[in-house]
Amino acid sequence: MTAHNTLDNLTMLMHRYDGVFVLTDEQVAKCCLPVVLNMYQLSLADTPTLILPAGEEHKNLSSVQRIWDFLFEQGATRNSLLINIGGGVICDMGGFAASTYMRGIHYMNIPTTLLAMVDAGTGGKTGIDYTPQSAEGSIGSLKNAIGVFAEPVETIIRLELLATLPAEQLLSGYAEMIKHAILQGRKQLDELLEYDLRQTATPAFGELIRQSVAFKQSIVEQDPHDKGLRQILNYGHTIGHAIEALMLCKSKVESQKSKAEIRNQRSAKPHGYCVMYGMVAETYLSHLIYGMPAEVVSTLSRFMLENYGAAPITCSDFDDLVQLMLHDKKNKEQGTIVCSLLQDVGKPVVGQPITIEQLREATEYLCSL
Ligand code: GLY
Repeated sequence: MTAHNTLDNLTMLMHRYDGVFVLTDEQVAKCCLPVVLNMYQLSLADTPTLILPAGEEHKNLSSVQRIWDFLFEQGATRNSLLINIGGGVICDMGGFAASTYMRGIHYMNIPTTLLAMVDAGTGGKTGIDYTPQSAEGSIGSLKNAIGVFAEPVETIIRLELLATLPAEQLLSGYAEMIKHAILQGRKQLDELLEYDLRQTATPAFGELIRQSVAFKQSIVEQDPHDKGLRQILNYGHTIGHAIEALMLCKSKVESQKSKAEIRNQRSAKPHGYCVMYGMVAETYLSHLIYGMPAEVVSTLSRFMLENYGAAPITCSDFDDLVQLMLHDKKNKEQGTIVCSLLQDVGKPVVGQPITIEQLREATEYLCSL
């Protein structure tokens, strides 16, 4: 990511292309798109814009097909630019569609959520969720299972957009910032755990975002294709992704039931919430395997309960979670589950194989909170 975010820089960048196209979703179109277009003196009338339905359940091949069709219909060439304005789903999926359209055109991200600002907007991981035909009906979609590495030409972070976010979305992004901090060291972690989350429209919060993105970039530069070191950024995600996929799968099943039945059911959770649950379980695993101080496990657990609530799973979900984790991209051999863990705060290790018994203990810990 470069930090060109002035109007002049954006205008200069757009003049390099023979066509500029915008991708966004229905939710962003309502709350942030007018703010962004106004910021950059763009008008919907002059900028062909595709507005997709919002939500992780639309991060799939048929949405990508709609983006390709849109680009073809609007006459995009190999020298066109796609601007993704939205959260992680739009940045990931738009990046993938652009990187495969005519063997790859440039794309730019204007993340509108905190989560996308500190994570999906940078680093060049693009893609969609996918259910292999052989697994249809047995498990939910596998998150980000299909995609390519392709860096955006630019990522523009505008703090003004945070004012458009509901508290739940801020917390979701904050979990990824906590993840970066726990990988960095005590000072960074304590700073975030103690920060007053009502103060997000401040230069101090902007500085926390800058540090978080800079940390991610420093890791991506060393390992852009996720062969080793970058996997530390998956901290909390082995268990977190499985919880997220399970919740998504259950909410799909539940939405097919009658409204009366739905009332007391669990629904899908924002990505960052699942990462927070996953981080607590994986910090417990780090304690079990590497002797991570118990005090870190309890501090993080307390922070989770106070801000994100208890994990929406029970011990009876364990077998489904294991099935989902067996499909995790970090696993090298079939039948083994591999995690990124911590020897201590700021001391990450990648590629740690986990036994089913260790996983069961960590899941039971999470469910006991
Ligand atoms: N979100 C983790 C990564 O970009 O590698």
